[in-house]
Amino acid sequence: MRNIRLQAFLGALCGALWAFAPAVAGEDPTAAKPAKIELPKPREKADVDVLAALKGRHSSRDFDAKKPIPDDVLATVLWAADGVNRPDGKHTAPTALGVRHMRIYVCRADGAWRYDQDAHVLLAVSKEDLRARIARQKPFAEAQAILVFTSDLAAFDAKAARADKAMRREWSHYAAGAIGQNVYLAAEAFGLGTVIAAGVNAEEAKKSLALGAEEVPLYVMPLGYPKAISP
Ligand SMILES: Cc1cc2nc3c(=O)[nH]c(=O)nc-3n(C[C@H](O)[C@H](O)[C@H](O)COP(=O)(O)O)c2cc1C
Repeated sequence: MRNIRLQAFLGALCGALWAFAPAVAGEDPTAAKPAKIELPKPREKADVDVLAALKGRHSSRDFDAKKPIPDDVLATVLWAADGVNRPDGKHTAPTALGVRHMRIYVCRADGAWRYDQDAHVLLAVSKEDLRARIARQKPFAEAQAILVFTSDLAAFDAKAARADKAMRREWSHYAAGAIGQNVYLAAEAFGLGTVIAAGVNAEEAKKSLALGAEEVPLYVMPLGYPKAISP
């Protein structure tokens, strides 16, 4: 009799644990996600100076899927990429005629976000984990974050009236190159790995990131700690 009661108790306990399993094991897929994430202030110093970061800069394509990037490090990499660095609202990366046409999206396990440079916040654009869908290279899905650079050609205003669509696209690639190098150097300073990659699933990006009618996906940069190489 005692055994039967014990078995019934254990059975009920297992049932209860199973019911709570998603919350215990990881994120509850039904939980509401925030519309906005306030990012920590970007760090003002790193242990690696710019010349040492240039000396170490290299591309990495394999990432440690289990090692998270601290929030303040991600915030600093985003700021370094194309954040506001002056009181007049201008950015760490240059753009033709100072037109603000570059956008950065952050695809992570907890959804996809747009980096709002002025407010230094992440704005929710998708609740889905798009990492395996947005970049063509499969190992990039192991990166903690995939940065997606886009250019909104519609943002070129009267100042850039002389630039036709082809020139606006060309300028966008130059600006993306500058942002990409900023990401490489910031990543190097924090021991992160990254690579600038042209392999973007453009149709997927347009749909899942709800890009504007004239917003063009350009490059992706996976970001994460490099996978340890076995001795
Ligand atoms: C415009 C451009 C596009 C690139 N596209 C890819 C890509 O799709 N996939 C990739 O793995 N690397 C890509 N790379 C990274 C280069 O392969 C890499 O920079 C090159 O092999 C030199 O290696 P390093 O960056 O370590 O010096 C690209 C680089 C540039 C500048």
